[in-house]
This record gives sequence, C-alpha cells and structure tokens, in this order.
Amino acid sequence: MDLQNRLRRNIIKEFGGIGPLSRIGASSRAPSGEGATSVPPPTLRGSSAEGPEGVRPIPPAGPSGPTLSPGGGPARAAASPGDAYYEIKTRIHVRLIDLMDLSKIESMPEQVLRSEIGAIVEQLMREEFVSAPLNSAERRAVIEEIKDEVLGLGPLEPFLKDPTVNDVLVNGFAHVYVERAGKLEATSARFRDDVHLRKIIDRIVSRVGRRIDESSPMVDARLADGSRVNAIIPPLAIDGPSLSIRKFSKTPLEIQDLIDKKAMIPSLAEVLGSIVKARLNVLISGGTGSGKTTLLNVLSRFVPGEERIVTIEDAAELQLKQEHVVRLETRPANIEGRGEITQRDLVKNCLRMRPDRIIVGEVRGAEALDMLQAMNTGHDGSLATIHANTPRDALMRLETMVSMAGLNLETLSLRRYVSSAIDVIVQVARLADGSRKVISFQEISGMEGDMVTMQEIFSFEQTGFDRSVGKNGKVHGRFRPLGVRPKFADRLEAMGLPLERTLFDPANAVEM
Ligand SMILES: Nc1ncnc2c1ncn2[C@@H]1O[C@H](COP(=O)(O)OP(=O)(O)O)[C@@H](O)[C@H]1O
Ligand SMILES: [Mg+2]
Repeated sequence: MDLQNRLRRNIIKEFGGIGPLSRIGASSRAPSGEGATSVPPPTLRGSSAEGPEGVRPIPPAGPSGPTLSPGGGPARAAASPGDAYYEIKTRIHVRLIDLMDLSKIESMPEQVLRSEIGAIVEQLMREEFVSAPLNSAERRAVIEEIKDEVLGLGPLEPFLKDPTVNDVLVNGFAHVYVERAGKLEATSARFRDDVHLRKIIDRIVSRVGRRIDESSPMVDARLADGSRVNAIIPPLAIDGPSLSIRKFSKTPLEIQDLIDKKAMIPSLAEVLGSIVKARLNVLISGGTGSGKTTLLNVLSRFVPGEERIVTIEDAAELQLKQEHVVRLETRPANIEGRGEITQRDLVKNCLRMRPDRIIVGEVRGAEALDMLQAMNTGHDGSLATIHANTPRDALMRLETMVSMAGLNLETLSLRRYVSSAIDVIVQVARLADGSRKVISFQEISGMEGDMVTMQEIFSFEQTGFDRSVGKNGKVHGRFRPLGVRPKFADRLEAMGLPLERTLFDPANAVEM
C-alpha cells in the first residue's frame, strides 16, 4: 500500500537532480540542490509527440540543458566520457519522469512498474536518444541503473542482487566496499555525492518507519529481504554518511553446517537438540559476530512444529522454519520522543499471547527480568542470546540487567532467580583464525552460598595456532566432553529423550 507513495516520493526525489551516480572519476557537477526543479504534472504515456528533443525543458542538467547532438558532446568543457554517460542518463531519467503516468503508479505492482520503466527507457533511447554516444552495453546499463535509482537503492542494487556478496560497506559517497568469501574488496561503485547517499539512506530507513537526522544520527534498519542495515551520518560520522549492510543469508546455516565447519562436535549437537526439544531454558553467550544469532537460529530448528513461538528482536534476523511463529520487533521513539516500544514491552506483551516458546534475539536490558520471570513461571523452553565473554560473565550481566528493571532484589535472591531460570549456557567465540566455535557448554547446577554454580559439560581448548596456513592462520585445539553426566540428563530421560553416557566420555575428544 505504501509502495505507491514510496515510488512517488522516490521519483520526485530523483527528479530533484540526484539521479546519476558517478562511478568513473569524481563528478565536477555542482552539488545538487533540493528543489532545484519542480515536478512536471503527470502526463499520459505517449504524449511525447513533440519530437526528439521534447518541448518540455529538461531541468536538472542546467538551465538550458546540455546539448548532446552528435559530435557536439555535453556543453561542459573537459567532460570525461564517464560524465557524458551520466549526463545522458540524467536526461533520460528526466524524460522518464516526464512520460510516466504518475497516477497509474498507484495501482501497479513493483514488478510491473520495473518492466514499464524499462520499456519507457528503451523507447526513449530508440526514439529520442538514438544519436546519444552510448554503446549497447551502456544502453543496457542505463536501463538497469535507472530502474535501480527509481525503485531501489541505486548503486548498491547490483551488490544486493549478487549472491556472492555478504556485506556491503559504504564509507562516504565515493567508497563502496563489499565482502565476498570473507574478503573485503573495494568496488568502482560510487554515489554522486553525499546528498545522493543520504537520499538512499533515507529511503532505507523511512521504509521501516525510522528516521535519521542530526538529532538521531544513527539508525538500525532492515531491508525488505531481511538484510540488516546500520547507517550513521555526520556529525558522528566524520567523513560523510556511512552505511553498513549485512546481507540476509538466503540459506541459513543448519546444525550439520556447524559440525562441518567444526564449530562443534556431533555429540554436542545431539545434546543441544535434545535440550531444546525437552524445553530447557538456553542462554547463548558470545561477543559481537561470534555466531550467537546463527546458533540461536540453528537451535530454534529443534522446537517442535506444533508449538507456538514468539520471537522478540531489535532488528528481526531470525529465520525460523516453523509455521506457527509470531515475530515481534522493537520500535524507537519518534521525532517527538514518543512511541518507543522496547524489548521489555514486547516480552510483557508476548506473555499475553499464549506462547509455547519465547525467543529473545539478544537480551540487553530490563527485559531480562520479564524473560527470567517467564522462564520461572512455566514458559520454559525459552531461548536467548547475550553479549558476554564467558558463561560467568553472562550471569553477571543478567544480574545487572535485572537490577536495571528497578526490582529491588537482594543479590542472593537475584542470583537464585537467575539460577533457577536458566538451565544451560552455550558460549560461542570467534577465534584468531576467524572461525566460530562453541567453546564451552555449561549447566547451571544450583547455588553454593551466594554463588551460582556451573558445571562445564563440553569445552574447546585451543592447543596451538599455525600462522602459515592460509591468510588467517589456523587454530588447533580439542573439543572435549569433560566426563560429567549433566543433571538435566535425568530430566531428558524422563521425557523419553535419553542421552547415551558415551556422549560425555572424555575419551571421545576430537582434535582439530
Ligand atoms: N560456525 C560458523 N562458521 C562460520 N561462519 C559463521 C558461523 N557462525 C556464524 N557465522 C557467520 O558469522 C557472522 C556473524 O554471525 P552472527 O550469528 O550474526 O553473530 P552474532 O549474533 O554473535 O553477532 C555471520 O556472517 C554468520 O553467517
Ligand atoms: Mg546477533
């Protein structure tokens, strides 16, 4: 429903002279001013019987419009071939706006609109720009780039479509990097200027109801395909707007992938699967980029399909396989500082939604209290991640978060509360060679005095680091069951999910 408005807005914005992006050489055009042009009234297609140069003035390219008669070239001295290309593209873009029936856009699905735009641009190039100095590859590029400018994210669009690209990083308008197979590469893509980049950023954040401006210069958002976006603009970003896109992985990792990638051993995978089925409360702990969300997603696979799952995230990332899932996402305050919906609000609300399972993407604050409350009052089988470097650290952070909720519990009762809610902690880490591994799996076994006691069941111990292997080196180490049969094994057995003793036998350590 807002597609039409969005398009209308985009088209109008594009018309403001931001259209072309310059990939080759810095553009020497004057900075594009807002409102440099007015939007022509919508016209019906086919009203362009005025002849090749059209009757309507072509606003953004300058008061008189550059003449592009064959041999004449753009009216600007010392224009590089790249500039000529963008000049022509701008003019075609402007003619497109001229010819498009903006009122018809209202009822057009995006796909249809895309091909409609393609058709108009093709026609324009055949009829009005037939003598423009563009080869056939450039002509094809013009069509795609104009579609991307009007409907998508401009110069970023090709990378978003490219399945080999994992991350897209923009440092100011002139520097676009992509990550392929773990390696960063600079690209020749660029925005025309920071204003152009800002427009694309605005387009991304406004689609998800967020905003970015001097008063809130950083924002997290999500693209329609689930990719995660962070944007930060001056004054916080010193050298111009910066955009980081972590692309949505179309094929999320599965437990077997984690085994194949040596992130864990099969016996631990089996234990993890069983504890999720048996509704233990699991906390996944790790640093940034250590694979917490990935593991949470993998573990969610073990939740039986007939259970009702509610997920709570700051930016929806989880890709659950089950059908009965309600996904909730927080919302920041609006420009008047109102309307914020926190994770805590969502956890509270979710308890009224009759969930069988609650999955919290990352516990960060006061919602920890409500989550623990839920875990302690029958909503077991909950899963969450937390940013911490060790299981002990994770517990301490939980304590701090609960106290942020303003509940004046004594330390002892607080710890009792935590220890009775959480059953196990899975610690993940990104190691020196870039690999992600489960480095510890611990059971919360109870309290001793005022201390929460934990029992490590599996561990990964690093034994060496070989610098000579590959680009990043290679960590050597050992996955090891510690020879302890966890207390929860009885609980699982009672539920018909027996765990073989050999799973915990240290003799089954795996070297790698
Ligand atoms: N076991 C793994 N092996 C290889 N790559 C992984 C593994 N786990 C996660 N990743 C990748 O690492 C990146 C960060 O993972 P993510 O789960 O988002 O981390 P976190 O939630 O801890 O910040 C993602 O690109 C993800 O695909
Ligand atoms: Mg995460």
